[in-house]
Amino acid sequence: MMEQDLVAGGYDAVYAAVPNSPTLRRIWHELAEGADFPEEFSHISFTTLPELKRIASELHVNPGDTLVDLGCGMAGPGLWMARATQAHLIGVDVSQVATGHAAARAAQLGLGEQARFVVGSYADTGIEAGMADGAMSEDALQYGPSKEATMAEVARILRPGGRFVFTAYELDPERAVGLPILGADIVDDYRPALEKAGFGVTIYEQVSGWPEPMTATYSAVVEAKDALTQEMGERATNALLLEMALTLENKPYRRRVLAAATKE
Ligand SMILES: C[S@@+](CC[C@H](N)C(=O)[O-])C[C@H]1O[C@@H](n2cnc3c(N)ncnc32)[C@H](O)[C@@H]1O
Repeated sequence: MMEQDLVAGGYDAVYAAVPNSPTLRRIWHELAEGADFPEEFSHISFTTLPELKRIASELHVNPGDTLVDLGCGMAGPGLWMARATQAHLIGVDVSQVATGHAAARAAQLGLGEQARFVVGSYADTGIEAGMADGAMSEDALQYGPSKEATMAEVARILRPGGRFVFTAYELDPERAVGLPILGADIVDDYRPALEKAGFGVTIYEQVSGWPEPMTATYSAVVEAKDALTQEMGERATNALLLEMALTLENKPYRRRVLAAATKE
């Protein structure tokens, strides 16, 4: 629980400040999202538009279905998916500030009736068993203190035949050891946890182009420290830069992978 409080506190500070920073937005759009990414669905992951389209085609959700987004943050990718598939979205995140922003954004986009957000963890979403037709997650699962507990919870909330499609970072066992949060449960392959939870894995592959977007984006953010501190304040900038500097220096991630699995 301590690790989770640390994650929630850090992300609360970041999400409270992110909307105040045009510099961060510019860097993220240019180097992480790509020029074709619709700005109204902006995020703080490395999700691109082609990737969202691929995830949509692998999720197999239909209009009126229920789709869960784990570690939804401000829910850019989740809301894009809700609009594209006409599914009902339930976004889950430990950060209360993130879910607050996500709900406000859903309303602004005219998706307020189609989306709701809950403060919860991967291992304890509070969602009723078997009620989800699909689940997604963008660059968030690596923070989970137990990947097995995460996959067991996703299996619990999905109906049989439901799909779980996600991107996440595999951790490098030698480099992630001893690190805060990432070192809590070092998993270099998500497939054993998926299979143990009762999923059949249909896609598991490294995302092409990795790791250039992350290296370029994080380096640009670290270099923009002064502008970011002015726009976001010291606490949020430090929380953001700490993770990015640590990632650039320690290289705790082995690969960024895209996975798709079916609950059997
Ligand atoms: C890199 S952000 C990605 C957010 C979002 N998916 C996006 O594309 O912008 C990772 C998110 O995971 C959330 N998170 C981390 N650990 C979590 C946990 N154990 N349970 C739920 N959410 C968690 C963080 O609060 C954060 O919003």
